[in-house]
Amino acid sequence: MELPFAESWRIKMVEPIKKSTREEREQWMKEADYNLFQLRSEQVYIDCLTDSGTGAMSDRQWAAVMMGDESYAGSSSFFHLKEMINKITGFEYVIPTHQGRAAENVLFSHLVKAGSIVPGNSHFDTTKGHIESRKATALDCTIDEAKDTQLEIPFKGNVDPKKLEKALAEHHENVPFIIVTITNNTAGGQPVSMQNLREVRAIADKYGKRVVLDSARFAENAYFIKTREEGYADKTIKEIALEMFSLADGMTMSAKKDGIVNMGGFIATRHEDWYEGAKRFCIPFEGYLTYGGMNGRDMEALAVGLDENTEFDNLETRIHQVEFLAGLLDEYGIPYQRPVGGHAIFVDADKVLTKVPKEEFPAQTLAIELYLEAGVRGCEIGYILADRDPVTRENRFGGLDLLRLCVARRVYTDNHMRVIAAALKNVFDRRDEITRGVEIVWEAELMRHFTVKLKKLF
Ligand code: F0G
Repeated sequence: MELPFAESWRIKMVEPIKKSTREEREQWMKEADYNLFQLRSEQVYIDCLTDSGTGAMSDRQWAAVMMGDESYAGSSSFFHLKEMINKITGFEYVIPTHQGRAAENVLFSHLVKAGSIVPGNSHFDTTKGHIESRKATALDCTIDEAKDTQLEIPFKGNVDPKKLEKALAEHHENVPFIIVTITNNTAGGQPVSMQNLREVRAIADKYGKRVVLDSARFAENAYFIKTREEGYADKTIKEIALEMFSLADGMTMSAKKDGIVNMGGFIATRHEDWYEGAKRFCIPFEGYLTYGGMNGRDMEALAVGLDENTEFDNLETRIHQVEFLAGLLDEYGIPYQRPVGGHAIFVDADKVLTKVPKEEFPAQTLAIELYLEAGVRGCEIGYILADRDPVTRENRFGGLDLLRLCVARRVYTDNHMRVIAAALKNVFDRRDEITRGVEIVWEAELMRHFTVKLKKLF
């Protein structure tokens, strides 16, 4: 008989997790103002809030931690990290930062001005936040197909070349760079094809513009190119990554995802002028150039994490688990962004809670219901996260309203996936009884989803 698939690692250390009762969860949810970010982690049984900083480091990474050089300047750990980034990306200049948004802050402080227009594919909320807070515009040029959650196409995270061309034709003098997010988190962890990166490069070259890759999940993107795009099946993940980066000018990185560290990020670029410009902001915001917000030990762990997570086996194990969870939802008929992406399932809440009006935030309501059902914490990637239009101050209801269930890297087993799927099925089975959602009672002006206070209307 054919041997079944199994993980490419074994477990050396475990961390207990606790179940709770429904009454406890009702109380905790109320105390948290129906915002799952406000829960304490002990109140969560299976945490699918994010795949960011939640991965399990390997024995090699923990060993590397011990080799951290904590020198303020010229740390050897910085040079280890820099060499690994040079090797994987081909980018010469590296600035470490404490996480991805800090990389955005440092680079955008140099590049984005009031009135700038930054085209891209579904900018992540911190990316959008760092653009909009500078009185600039994040112009979404994602393909329209990404909005149809039931459509199965292999590269649903792509930039629409026609939209990008139009944006540049109209606004090129105000465009400091184009940003492509790989994988496209907001559209459902959907990959961007190499072909699409080439098209973006060609349009950028036509207008003399540079391209930044928001690379938080670049290794997962490379995995999808290898397994879905013609001509890449025999290439290694490292070869594919190098080719992806060869089509760009620089990158911002949240190392908390595909770097498999708990904290960290960086900027890398091939252009000295970007490096010189960003350096001026690294020192006041992050720290001196050879640590920029990271410990020596974390830079060591990141260097190893980048190396390990650009190996096929590690990525195959990960994507296989996400696909396993998706398969269970298929069995139960629960609609999600298809085909499943790299790091999470994005349940189409609009299609599940059809009786909850959009003004009452269906995806957030589904997230609350799932938590109350089984202590599984997901995250709304929908109308609350979309914030208000900076000009009209209206809620932005134009996008998708999704419940994201992230799978942390190397953390949970397939049995946990079964629990998540069963809990969601229980909510799904009584979806027609759920007719009311939530109302906002307090919100911040930007990135409101972290701190929003809600009232339950059901
Ligand atoms: N870019 C993308 C595509 C991201 O998904 C994130 C973070 C960032 C940038 C910012 O990085 O958190 O290190 O400052 N995403 C997390 C998430 C928070 O849950 O998807 P950061």
